[in-house]
Amino acid sequence: MKRFFLGSIACMFILSTFGQTATKLPDPQPLKSSKMTLMQALQQRHSVREYADKGIGDNTLSTLLWAACGINRPADRRITAPSAINAQDIVVYVCKADGYYRYEADGHKLVKMGSTDLRPAVAGRQDFAKTAPVCLMLVSDLTKFRNPSRSREFGAVDAGYVSQNICLACTALGLATVPRASMDKETLAQALQLGENQLLLLNHPVGWPK
Ligand SMILES: Cc1cc2nc3c(=O)[nH]c(=O)nc-3n(C[C@H](O)[C@H](O)[C@H](O)COP(=O)(O)O)c2cc1C
Repeated sequence: MKRFFLGSIACMFILSTFGQTATKLPDPQPLKSSKMTLMQALQQRHSVREYADKGIGDNTLSTLLWAACGINRPADRRITAPSAINAQDIVVYVCKADGYYRYEADGHKLVKMGSTDLRPAVAGRQDFAKTAPVCLMLVSDLTKFRNPSRSREFGAVDAGYVSQNICLACTALGLATVPRASMDKETLAQALQLGENQLLLLNHPVGWPK
């Protein structure tokens, strides 16, 4: 019991920074959580717009977020997705029934930003999306680029890489997803407090297949 308690505390290591609560995710398990090869994942990837009524556990979410754009080379803090000039401009936001979070690759943690269920805003006019237990949103922080004339182009390309990582990781983990550009951007930009240099590009409803 004591070990379980201490383990839970270690896992849920909570710290408060500027009023936002950061929760350390469990360590990602990219090699243990799937035996599927990359070629099999490519063969099987497809968009899914129907999800089972079942939540996604922290271990699975941890591995998925790491695959999206987590750190895979700690020595120089590089990530799973390539990015123009290594800007690492894509910020992944996570929406669940209990609120919305910002994923931070440093420390592999989720920072809680609010307690509203933003999935209806992510869904917009496509109701199926709000039935997913988790929705991921990809925002390019254009301030990370030195050349403003190309920042939108680079941001969109970088979001594509992260999105494809999510598609393939979902396939390998047995999860279902679809990349989407449609959403209620105004409501989401307001909730996430996005400025004019933060471009909300794509979202991914994620769930278990029906
Ligand atoms: C940039 C982009 C935007 C998309 N936006 C939507 C969307 O808003 N809603 C949706 O249901 N699917 C969306 N899709 C998914 C495509 O419709 C889907 O990838 C395409 O039909 C091919 O099917 P497949 O993914 O199963 O190969 C989008 C895909 C991309 C790459």
